[in-house]
Amino acid sequence: MCGIVGYLGKKPVVPLLVDSLRHLEYRGYDSAGIAYLDDENLFQVYKACGKLVNLENILPEAAGNGTESSSTLHLGIGHIRWATHGAANEINAHPHTSNDNQIALVHNGIIENFYELRQSLAAEGVQFSSDTDTECVVHLLNKLNKASDGSNFIQVLQQALKQLKGAYALTLASRDNPDRLYAVRNHAPLVIGVGSEEYLVASDAVAVASHHNKIIYLKDREIAEISPEGVRIFNLDGEEVQPIIEPLNIGPLQIDKKGFKHFMMKEIHEQPDVVRNSLAGRLVGVDQPIDLTPQVSNNGSDPTAILNQIDRIVITGCGTSFNAGLVGKYFIEELVRIPVEVESAGEYRYRNPVVNKKTLIVAMSQSGETADTLEAVRQSSQQGAKVLTITNREDSSIAREADIVLSARAGVEVSVCATKTFVAQIIVLYLLGLSLAETRGTYPTEQLQALKSGLLKVPTLIESVLSNPEVVQPLAKKYGHARDLLFIARGINYPVALEGALKLKEISYIHAEGYSASELKHGPIAMLDEDIPVLSILVPGLVFDKSLSNAQEAKARDARSIGLTTTDAMVDQAGPLEDTFEDILTIPQVPELLSPLVATVPLQLFAYYIAEHLGKDVDQPRNLAKSVTVE
Ligand code: G6P
Repeated sequence: MCGIVGYLGKKPVVPLLVDSLRHLEYRGYDSAGIAYLDDENLFQVYKACGKLVNLENILPEAAGNGTESSSTLHLGIGHIRWATHGAANEINAHPHTSNDNQIALVHNGIIENFYELRQSLAAEGVQFSSDTDTECVVHLLNKLNKASDGSNFIQVLQQALKQLKGAYALTLASRDNPDRLYAVRNHAPLVIGVGSEEYLVASDAVAVASHHNKIIYLKDREIAEISPEGVRIFNLDGEEVQPIIEPLNIGPLQIDKKGFKHFMMKEIHEQPDVVRNSLAGRLVGVDQPIDLTPQVSNNGSDPTAILNQIDRIVITGCGTSFNAGLVGKYFIEELVRIPVEVESAGEYRYRNPVVNKKTLIVAMSQSGETADTLEAVRQSSQQGAKVLTITNREDSSIAREADIVLSARAGVEVSVCATKTFVAQIIVLYLLGLSLAETRGTYPTEQLQALKSGLLKVPTLIESVLSNPEVVQPLAKKYGHARDLLFIARGINYPVALEGALKLKEISYIHAEGYSASELKHGPIAMLDEDIPVLSILVPGLVFDKSLSNAQEAKARDARSIGLTTTDAMVDQAGPLEDTFEDILTIPQVPELLSPLVATVPLQLFAYYIAEHLGKDVDQPRNLAKSVTVE
């Protein structure tokens, strides 16, 4: 969702900017660009469409190395773009510079009042060269800078920022102050890595981790002025704020596919260990209570007191995290008998939801940076609700604002298409459900123990699916040319149908929809014919028979039907299953309540092999970004 970086220090600036951008590539790959001040105090700007490698290919070898001694200070900024305003072309690529090349700037976010600002600046004679919302910021700054006496750029920034509406993280430099780098944060993440006489600004701490072990997390509406003397932070009212330098505890991003062709396949194969890791220390034995000690408790929260007082849960999140939340609803309601609602964070936050101090908001976010989810957290906290987040990033904005942080412990996920984090998030939701049921006595002990024992076996079950991933390949070839595909299921596997369809859409660009199998007859069945395959998920339990009937209804309309079921069902129900489905994928026998953790895996493989077969960019699908920091 755009990644920005900035460097001030004595190292060659261009390689440093490029390396930092490489760690942010998951945020977008529509274009990349850098600007640095050369020995003549002029901005040198390079931009290229598409992935970072295209920028690397056009950079002159000696760019930004400096020609003077190693005591020379280097300054530069860089950007990786996920287009919001203006097409993904070179002109709209950042950095943007003022008409006189005085100021250069990179931006992550959206300037919501860009149209008015642009109109008024254009009326004053400013020439715009791009279609971006960002360009108006650089021209506004330049105008205000020219009107000032040039002695206080912070004041200029404050004036400009007060005119901006929306979300933004900015990094910028002005030729008037060649030894100063500026960084601004408002509703978009930004950190400053602190080294010895050098500083690295970035949208994510992972870009800083291979260079520095100290970090400043900028807060909203703060401006940082970075110079060889150190970092000074001001708020929008001009008051100076003491910077808080914290140790940086995360390791650098491991960009290693471990022999797999794509990160996605590597991450699919990591799932057994991810589940083990996510359970470790929390579920140690069937007769031991669940230990849900949070990784972090903010705001002086007492997690036990919070969990004891709640009478309702609202799970919110986006994309795959939302789907994981839906699985959690089925599980927690069954065990704990309190209402659990699940709502897309982007809808939730604009609907004045009814929450109070007895409501637990569970914010699901792999990255911990999704703008809609972050705002849902803020809004809920303001309304007095307690917020628990399940995230893969304990250092993220959401983790810093929630009351309780439970880590998904999936390890860094590089593939834009989420796989292992989905499974890890479900595990944590299950642990939450088990823990609440244990303390409240809402589920029979024997059944709780059976679920715990089942959970401990999940890694082996996933391993069994992954022992022969190739069985999915022929199906991918057979159905990979469909224009539309439906995924249907009922009960706790309904969210798995949604997730299966989402995976396929994301990486193959095939139109796929997940439906409750019961809803099929209320609309989608009208579309069915021999050109639309229908994949049904059927796990023995409450809804098996009904789901099978729904699959038969699809078959009766000539749809080509694929079944995903368990090995025991294939023994007990061989006749009806074989009669209904043209092709069948199996997973090992698994209790219905735990089955989403296993049934998801063949669907991930199905999407992967189809995308691979179609020659798509599996790890960086078009138009998507891993972390969405705009609304
Ligand atoms: C983007 C990603 C999805 C992800 C969603 C929510 O759309 O491409 O894979 O599920 O954001 O992200 P989060 O980090 O909040 O889980």
